Amino acid sequence: MQQSRRRNKMAFPWAGLLALAAAGALAVWLLSPSAPPLELLQTWYLSRAAGLVALALLWLSVILGLMQSAGLLSGLTGPAANVDVHAFAALLSLYAATFHAWILLWDRFVTFRWPEVVLPFTANYEPVLLGIGTLAFYGALGAVITTYLRGWMGPRVWRALHQASLIAFAFGLVHGYFLGPDTAVPAVRLFYYFAGWSTALLLAYRMAGGILRRARDAG
Ligand code: HEM
Repeated sequence: MQQSRRRNKMAFPWAGLLALAAAGALAVWLLSPSAPPLELLQTWYLSRAAGLVALALLWLSVILGLMQSAGLLSGLTGPAANVDVHAFAALLSLYAATFHAWILLWDRFVTFRWPEVVLPFTANYEPVLLGIGTLAFYGALGAVITTYLRGWMGPRVWRALHQASLIAFAFGLVHGYFLGPDTAVPAVRLFYYFAGWSTALLLAYRMAGGILRRARDAG
């Protein structure tokens, strides 16, 4: 037990170093004169892939948060580890969503300027669905920031602000489902349904548990 814990601790820096080295090598290659021009880098596909990764990580973070607060993970893993994975998944989702929107600035299929990316509902292309995506991004950003500022907020304010992550996930789901061409792919459609329904059911379970607890305490 002791040994495996030590081995786990050592695995993280290596993975991080490897990722940094890969990102550095990619950056050097992109800046070298032999790299293909950015429009040939298939920015549209990169953006869409990153969008799906962002949504999957956001879903993971949301369900872990709901399972933790509903007590479904107690006895399985330690609460501190659950909270760490929950927060880290949200942070990674934010990185992926940033890449997803940022790389569009180089895209030739749909030409975006940065105000259209950061200001909701201002794009020329699908303004409503894109605006919902931008709001999803701000919701996820708010959830991550409140996680790190938890110590400075009262529990009520924190809980209210942190619940924005659920809205962010719902907006991300609507944005991806109705905008993304990959919704036509059965596996991607299955992921949307599974992610949506699992979150809705967990949320209902969590709310029912809260109502029952309050009724028990009052009676
Ligand atoms: C948390 C925030 C976001 C999430 C989780 C998210 C997720 C997704 C997903 C899952 C797709 C579908 C990908 C596919 O079908 O291949 C998608 C598509 C797309 N998203 Fe986002 N997105 C977010 C924010 C944004 C923002 C801020 C923008 C830019 C304003 C944006 C622009 C787009 C575009 C242009 C597409 C492709 C539409 C098409 O192919 O017709 N997204 N997004």
